[in-house]
Amino acid sequence: MSNSMWKDVGALTDIPKEGARTVITSMGKIAVFKSAQGEIFAIEDKCPHLGGPLSQGIVHGARVTCPLHNWVIDLKSGGVVGPDEGCVKTLPVKIEGERIHLNMSALVKRAA
Ligand code: FES
Repeated sequence: MSNSMWKDVGALTDIPKEGARTVITSMGKIAVFKSAQGEIFAIEDKCPHLGGPLSQGIVHGARVTCPLHNWVIDLKSGGVVGPDEGCVKTLPVKIEGERIHLNMSALVKRAA
């Protein structure tokens, strides 16, 4: 995995617990979440149902509930929690010191 695919997207303190911030990329908006336990997750900011902004959803455990029609997305896998179906892209996350880095290769590979 090339080092150039890792992108510094901000500090751990930039995101409140059970909150999110967004990162704009050439391949769409990414939502970066922090769980109540302080874990960081990065997924596409686009619900697989009708494209709702997942970054504005409610975080609970390692899941987020879409603000539009309440689909629940697993932040680790990007999969929709049943009975609904679908998935969003997830990005690998690496923490260096207090900085959050995302690996953009997931976007490039799947966009190809
Ligand atoms: S757009 Fe997310 S549940 Fe409908």
